[in-house]
Amino acid sequence: MSTARIASPAALVLAAGQGTRMKSDLPKVLHPVAGVPMVQWVVRALREAGVERIVVVIGHGGDQVQAALGDSVKFAWQREQLGTGHAVLQAREHLGTFDGPVLVVAGDVPMISGSTLRGLWEDQAQSGAACVMSTFELEDPRGYGRILRDVSHGSVTAIVEHKDCTTEQREITEVNPAIYCFDNQKMFAALDQVGNDNSQGEYYLPDVIKIFVKQGETIKGVLSDDPDEFRGINDKWQLAEAGAIVRERILKSLAVSGVSIVDPGSTHIGPDVKIGKDTVIHPNCVIEGSTSIGSGCQIGPNSWIKDSEIGDSCRVFMSHMERANMANGCRLGPFSNLRPGAVLKEEAKIGNFVEIKNSEIGAGVSASHLTYIGDASVGDGTNIGAGTITCNYDGFSKHRTEIGRDCFVGSNSTLVAPITIGDDVLVAAGSVLTKDVPSGALAVARSRQENKEDWFVRWREWKRGSNG
Ligand code: UD1
Ligand code: MG
Repeated sequence: MSTARIASPAALVLAAGQGTRMKSDLPKVLHPVAGVPMVQWVVRALREAGVERIVVVIGHGGDQVQAALGDSVKFAWQREQLGTGHAVLQAREHLGTFDGPVLVVAGDVPMISGSTLRGLWEDQAQSGAACVMSTFELEDPRGYGRILRDVSHGSVTAIVEHKDCTTEQREITEVNPAIYCFDNQKMFAALDQVGNDNSQGEYYLPDVIKIFVKQGETIKGVLSDDPDEFRGINDKWQLAEAGAIVRERILKSLAVSGVSIVDPGSTHIGPDVKIGKDTVIHPNCVIEGSTSIGSGCQIGPNSWIKDSEIGDSCRVFMSHMERANMANGCRLGPFSNLRPGAVLKEEAKIGNFVEIKNSEIGAGVSASHLTYIGDASVGDGTNIGAGTITCNYDGFSKHRTEIGRDCFVGSNSTLVAPITIGDDVLVAAGSVLTKDVPSGALAVARSRQENKEDWFVRWREWKRGSNG
């Protein structure tokens, strides 16, 4: 093997097609696989392969695709979808002068791996072939372009689209996954000669192969033994199947790193989620985005966690978290909702039907039942009784509630913000507080109880007598 550094390749992702068979208003390449849009998977694989310069060809739903990918890649518009060859030509202004290998990948092949892509460009750079492409075999090759090879030396001589195949060619089971590495200059030069005289009236990218053959160039087809990697997604069932394969890969890699997945069939975890060892994921959990979970936690059953951070030894039981943080040893649920900006410090205990938003909850705080805490801070060691509500919204703006440490907020208290409650405060149950409370005080804000002796017994006798 040569040890010389190989120049980094460029890459082109074809994502302008309509994806009619998806029967959807969403552009095909934005349909998610394991929570990540297909085209994003392709871009991730290219990055993993070491590609820095990526151009995505967009057209149908292009604005949405552009918004989803952001400015980490460049875009070329294909206003009219005249075929994959025409799509590549639209990127000429970005890549026309580039002298090196270019990976060309369809945006609807989400399972392609970084190592396969890297293998193609290393092979192309070392062999100097005009094209090194992946191929794979399918029992049912319908819809795919078939690979024609030279019988004597085995190199690829043409790719024939399913619709253009003769009856014999349809029998060929080696197909084109549309994953290629070209010599960029040779590719653009050959594309100028590609016409659209075929059954679909399109400019086919694979037609450059025939031109290369005429020019005496080498075309290598690398037959893969992992067909899953090359599955193209054209309808929603293929999308679901890809989702299942990717999900299993993610779960397997977590499991071998020490995470217990009780029921892989009902567990959905995104590719960027990090989970520590000895954490148990119980059935029916969806864990997405940039979530990280520490070690020794019990998560689920029935929990949905997105873009959140969970420390070690936490318990999340039948609950929801989004953009929320929880330090070590916290407990949440059942049926609780940590909304964006909820931050729990060590060993906080949040019980059933508690909603917390944009609030800092101190260490060891307990809010065990039926509470809303919004735009607030609660000091360490404070107990929030059942039915406590922070009234943070006056119909126009949001206001803050500050509660000190070691307080006891009695059940069914209503704290009307803005309000500050000091440390070591007792709020009498059922109070409606509208004024600040100094540290150490008892705050009672409800009418005093009056007992009218014998009143009910006498009243009832009178009622019975007058009605009887
Ligand atoms: C293509 C290949 C076929 C291969 C198959 C693998 C061609 C002519 N055929 O066929 O040999 O077996 O992929 O899945 O290339 N696109 C554009 N602009 C266009 C047309 C397509 O950007 O004008 C994009 C699509 O968004 C898609 C990709 O190119 O991501 C492939 O297009 P698609 O229409 O799915 O091609 P296939 O018929 O599947
Ligand atoms: Mg396709």
